[in-house]
Amino acid sequence: MRYLIFLGSSRKSSPPNPPRLGEHVTQACKRYFQQAYPQHEIEIIDPLLIDTGSVFKPHFAYGQRTVPETLDTLANKIRSASGYLMVSPEYNHSMSPALAHLLNHFGSSNFAFKPSLIVTYSAGQWGGVRAAVGMRSFLSELGCLPVSAMVHVPKAAEIFNNEGRCLDADSDAQWASYFERGISQLVWWAQAAATHAEQVDPHDLIKHFQRDPSQRNAP
Ligand SMILES: Cc1cc2nc3c(=O)[nH]c(=O)nc-3n(C[C@H](O)[C@H](O)[C@H](O)COP(=O)(O)O)c2cc1C
Repeated sequence: MRYLIFLGSSRKSSPPNPPRLGEHVTQACKRYFQQAYPQHEIEIIDPLLIDTGSVFKPHFAYGQRTVPETLDTLANKIRSASGYLMVSPEYNHSMSPALAHLLNHFGSSNFAFKPSLIVTYSAGQWGGVRAAVGMRSFLSELGCLPVSAMVHVPKAAEIFNNEGRCLDADSDAQWASYFERGISQLVWWAQAAATHAEQVDPHDLIKHFQRDPSQRNAP
């Protein structure tokens, strides 16, 4: 099975300015995931490496026209993944605009009927919990339902280096167990969803919007 880890920061920084902590937390996610489930594939999706263009034009807005390869490649990856780890910093008590912007390029049918894990962090003491609250609604609307466990990393610069290793090696086992709780829920739901989808294809059962979201309105 394949899982995508979305890195929720597109902040550019040069030394001695603060490093992009999203890289540290995302690498930690990958490391703890591989440690617990080495049989699964993981790929990090970094918004700094994905050119979505200067105007906002979602993947589905291209209609019959040729979709830019970058968007199409990512849409295929999202469609074929079994689950998602959504890693977000807290910006003004909200989820990262970079993550929301990237995800907004893809319709919910690409993510739907698969689970997600919310992972937030901050430079300060709250670990992004206020961002996490909003992410539940966002990800639910996208159809990749967030599992109940969440991961929050306060003072991320003091916890992980840029390879996702604990700066205090003595606390690594505790962080591993904390991450694994959420990761295990994600994997369990992803496996359950994949097994059931083999018996009942949800995309046959529940039709996609052909026109616009008003098609789901009450009569
Ligand atoms: C525009 C902006 C808003 C921020 N708002 C918050 C906030 O509401 N709560 C918080 O704990 N940290 C906040 N921070 C600090 C971030 O936690 C910190 O900059 C972190 O390193 C951002 O992640 P990144 O380095 O991966 O971009 C904010 C930072 C920026 C740039």
